[in-house]
Amino acid sequence: MRSGLSLLTLPALALAFPGAVRDEKRQLLGTVGNLLNDVSGLLGSVASSIDPDNFRPESGYDFQAPGPNDSRGPCPGLNLLANHGYLPRNGYVNFGQVVEATARGFNMGADLATVLCVFAVLTDGDIETESWYLGAGPQNVGGLVRHSTIEVDISPNREDYFLGCGDNHHLSSRIFTQNVQFAAQSADKDFGYDTMARHYGANSRFSQQYNPWLYYFPFPSIVSVVAFNFYPEYFSNGTYGSGGVANYESISSIVGAQLNKETGQYEYVPERWPEQGWYRRSTPYGAVEALTDGFTRIYPSNLVPMPIAQLGTPNLNVSTILCDIYQGLNSVTPLELGGETTDIEAQITWALGKLVAVGISDTILGCPKDVTNNNILYPNSTTAGGPLGPDPVVVSRAGNNVYNKVYFTAAPTTPQCS
Ligand code: HEM
Repeated sequence: MRSGLSLLTLPALALAFPGAVRDEKRQLLGTVGNLLNDVSGLLGSVASSIDPDNFRPESGYDFQAPGPNDSRGPCPGLNLLANHGYLPRNGYVNFGQVVEATARGFNMGADLATVLCVFAVLTDGDIETESWYLGAGPQNVGGLVRHSTIEVDISPNREDYFLGCGDNHHLSSRIFTQNVQFAAQSADKDFGYDTMARHYGANSRFSQQYNPWLYYFPFPSIVSVVAFNFYPEYFSNGTYGSGGVANYESISSIVGAQLNKETGQYEYVPERWPEQGWYRRSTPYGAVEALTDGFTRIYPSNLVPMPIAQLGTPNLNVSTILCDIYQGLNSVTPLELGGETTDIEAQITWALGKLVAVGISDTILGCPKDVTNNNILYPNSTTAGGPLGPDPVVVSRAGNNVYNKVYFTAAPTTPQCS
């Protein structure tokens, strides 16, 4: 899984297999050359319509790489906010801090931030303090790396939990390379919707083909779809759709993808705003816009079946999807619970109170009432290799992000445990 064949290693191999190595070297140079061409074709675009008040980072929020004890995980947006000091740099965050920082840094709407925070607290964090870790929690329990809660398969640039053998949180070199290639081939040469829809199509077909544990549960699957819109909507320089550009400079820097021009692989480096200047979007982008864009502009490129009963019917709309999110609360197993129904009900009451405050509730949406379910995430989950019968390597990879390395140089069609 880790770094690929470097040009530097080739001379030693050449002594043993001169012909084979010449071919391999030629092939590698060809691949790297193609990638460099793609990248250079993507450079140079700048935002045309910007408001100086939206320049980020503001003064006093300089980038600082995380230290070894700082918690970072699968979300590039939150990792970046911690690296710039908009969130605590140690990566231990709470509800209020995240709603404020996501608005200030990226103009995320309060409704969308609230939905995400509710799930983070409920499934990955601590309800008393409304807090959680951006990477792994204490003793690797909880935190955003916890699989199938908010962290989910078919991510834009992370491998699936099963195929990555537990590594669901480091940026994957081979997937980002694909993302760059699709951007280079798109009409606008950017990371806009055409590129991201194609990327979603390729990633989801790959997961469907190779991941026997792919389970598209309502809430995480919705996050997976809308995370593809987050690239243009939040990471563009300026406001996407109003002169902002989803350019390579912004996106590669924000997601922490640094091209090694010798190997042609992407090293995963700490997330930061581009040094040449960046402006956040000028208007909030919230839950309704995100769901509408996700399900009309991304998801149609491959309709992965998920337990949203309204899929494929005229009843699929933002309200029914929000109801599915709302009801999804009833079937996610909160982190700290052993299945006590009364405890679950107390947690759900807390969560629903938060959602009602930003206008998402059963009465407003007319969602049908549901009863509390047990965890239905995985049938047969104790099977070897399954979520409850994991390889020891899977367990060991639940930690915080380790930066300045290359992860996944090739597509993992079977779990990459070494
Ligand atoms: C508000 C609280 C937030 C929480 C709790 C949260 C949590 C997460 C989690 C758990 C993931 C992993 C999902 C996966 O496996 O694909 C994720 C991914 C992602 N998040 Fe966030 N997030 C939040 C806010 C944001 C913001 C403000 C942005 C953008 C500015 C953002 C952008 C993304 C993107 C692009 C991904 C996909 C990463 C990739 O695979 O390329 N998130 N987030």
